Amino acid sequence: MTKRDIRVRRVGQRVTAYLAYICLVLMAGTAFAADEPGCFDCHDDPGSTAHRVLQTAHGSLQGGGANACTTCHGASEEHDRRGKRAPPEVSFGPRWPSAVEARNAACLNCHESGEQLLWAGSAHQQENMACDTCHDAHRLADLALDHVAAEDKCLDCHTDVRAQLHLPSRHPIAEGKTACRDCHNPHGGLGDSALRQVTLNDNCFSCHQEMRGPFLWEHPPAAEDCSECHRPHGSVHPRLLNARGPALCQQCHAAAFHPSVPYDAAGLPGAGADVNLLGKNCLNCHGRIHGSNHPSGARLTR
Ligand code: HEC
Ligand code: HEC
Ligand code: HEC
Ligand code: HEC
Ligand code: HEC
Ligand code: HEC
Ligand code: HEC
Ligand code: HEC
Ligand code: HEC
Ligand code: HEC
Repeated sequence: MTKRDIRVRRVGQRVTAYLAYICLVLMAGTAFAADEPGCFDCHDDPGSTAHRVLQTAHGSLQGGGANACTTCHGASEEHDRRGKRAPPEVSFGPRWPSAVEARNAACLNCHESGEQLLWAGSAHQQENMACDTCHDAHRLADLALDHVAAEDKCLDCHTDVRAQLHLPSRHPIAEGKTACRDCHNPHGGLGDSALRQVTLNDNCFSCHQEMRGPFLWEHPPAAEDCSECHRPHGSVHPRLLNARGPALCQQCHAAAFHPSVPYDAAGLPGAGADVNLLGKNCLNCHGRIHGSNHPSGARLTR
């Protein structure tokens, strides 16, 4: 055999191997296609809800196509045939809705960590809510991506919060600068009220860092619980406060160092009232209400 013969044979071997490989790929492809469930035989309208899922993050599950369908709806062999048809194994649809637990289990198969880690035991889980109450898995722009749609969804049920968002003083939620999800995890949070942070103060500090301190002179209620004085969503009083002017302070300081005078319907205080208080808001003097770092700021005046 000449060198040339050997080269020819090697090329021949390579071509054969290549052809064999192509055949294998083609055969595997056919076998794969034959295994693909027949969902599209009947759900054949490319414009339908069913097909839209193919354009979402879920469209490529298990290699995509009709294989994706069974990841959520189950193998559904009794449904996937002509004649008398059983419901799909898991159905979220209007016709044969499965029990909430079965629907949620289908999603949690893949989504039980990360944001959904605390779902079990969360208020929404305890209210027997389904993932598909909020998520339409067949839509392109799911709530996960669309702030405004998500907020609308929340406010459908939380009508009391909807009202608070339009009070004169409010967190700029309706304005789109802050969103429910910045403070709450709808799948369950670390703190009370599904807050993302363990404590309410940690939640506030996540955006209002300057309030965290440490301060040389602390004002105990601020260090302990911002909600002693503030409402989280909205308030009729300025600066999201629970109450206005002296009344706010007098919830706790009714008998403080200089006798405080409630400004109420009883009119102006009597002649014995401290001149410091007449017509004045406590904040005019005690401006460092969240704490002071001034050497002589013990009374929160500077
Ligand atoms: C032989 C025809 C056929 C095949 C194959 C088929 N389906 Fe269906 N499917 C139907 C019909 C008919 C309905 C009822 C439609 C309606 O009520 O509007 C339906 C309804 C559904 C529903 C909605 C159920 C509800 O509660 O509203 C889901 C989900 C579904 N099919 C999933 C699948 C999946 C997944 C596959 C593939 C594994 C599949 N289908 C294969 C005919 C079929
Ligand atoms: C990520 C999970 C998931 C995948 C993957 C999925 N579905 Fe669905 N399917 C759902 C959910 C959730 C609903 C309920 C939709 C809603 O909330 O409106 C639904 C509803 C349906 C419905 C009834 C609603 C309607 O308006 O027709 C049909 C039919 C359906 N799916 C078929 C399919 C087919 C076919 C596939 C594969 C191409 C598929 N689904 C893939 C989760 C999924
Ligand atoms: C077989 C695994 C699987 C199942 C079952 C599944 N998902 Fe997913 N889901 C994924 C993957 C993978 C992604 C893409 C993740 C990514 O992009 O980070 C995703 C993304 C999402 C997203 C983000 C959407 C986006 O576009 O960023 C949402 C919301 C979601 N899934 C909800 C659901 C719901 C609700 C169900 C049940 C009806 C469900 N998933 C079932 C695997 C799954
Ligand atoms: C009360 C409404 C609501 C319910 C119920 C709900 N979600 Fe969500 N989900 C949201 C919102 C709003 C977002 C976007 C904000 C965020 O990421 O927390 C989101 C985001 C997601 C995301 C994308 C972000 C990520 O990577 O985790 C996935 C995946 C998801 N949800 C899965 C689920 C599953 C699974 C369930 C059921 C166990 C579920 N959701 C129940 C409202 C909801
Ligand atoms: C289908 C109705 C419904 C939807 C939609 C809904 N919720 Fe809820 N939510 C409830 C119910 C019911 C409770 C329990 C009673 C309560 O605290 O009001 C609850 C409780 C809560 C709580 C208090 C949690 C606790 O541990 O005390 C928060 C925070 C909350 N939801 C935020 C949200 C957010 C954010 C959204 C949107 C992503 C949302 N909810 C969507 C019905 C809903
Ligand atoms: C700036 C942070 C923040 C934002 C943004 C926010 N919340 Fe809250 N929310 C809180 C805090 C803090 C509490 C706990 C109040 C308390 O325990 O005194 C709370 C409590 C709640 C509660 C339970 C108590 C109640 O008032 O009914 C619900 C429900 C709720 N929020 C829903 C929402 C919804 C819906 C949105 C979006 C429209 C939203 N929140 C936006 C911080 C926030
Ligand atoms: C996700 C970020 C975020 C979190 C968390 C947050 N805030 Fe805010 N807060 C803002 C933004 C944004 C503004 C508007 C600032 C502006 O307009 O300059 C604001 C404004 C305020 C105001 C002034 C309102 C007014 O009428 O001028 C107060 C008071 C306030 N926040 C208190 C709190 C308290 C208390 C908490 C904890 C329960 C909290 N914030 C948590 C973002 C946040
Ligand atoms: C003892 C009551 C009280 C407590 C507790 C309190 N605040 Fe305030 N806060 C006020 C008052 C009063 C104002 C208005 C100050 C003004 O108008 O000069 C205010 C104003 C604010 C403002 C508006 C911006 C500014 O500097 O005036 C923010 C933000 C704020 N507080 C956040 C917080 C946070 C975060 C906490 C918890 C760490 C907290 N507050 C605890 C009484 C309080
Ligand atoms: C939730 C209760 C509460 C509210 C509301 C409150 N305080 Fe205080 N305040 C305290 C406590 C507790 C102390 C610490 C008292 C002590 O150490 O003897 C304190 C301390 C002070 C001090 C320093 C006094 C000292 O002895 O060092 C001043 C000044 C003060 N508060 C002013 C105010 C003003 C002004 C307001 C209204 C804007 C207000 N407080 C609202 C609970 C409150
Ligand atoms: C005109 C300024 C002014 C006004 C208005 C004012 N204070 Fe004061 N307050 C002071 C000064 C100055 C001190 C410190 C006096 C000292 O250290 O001798 C003080 C001290 C205090 C103390 C500390 C008392 C102690 O036991 O050491 C408290 C608490 C207090 N004020 C609460 C209030 C409250 C509540 C209001 C509103 C109802 C208010 N102040 C209004 C100027 C004022």
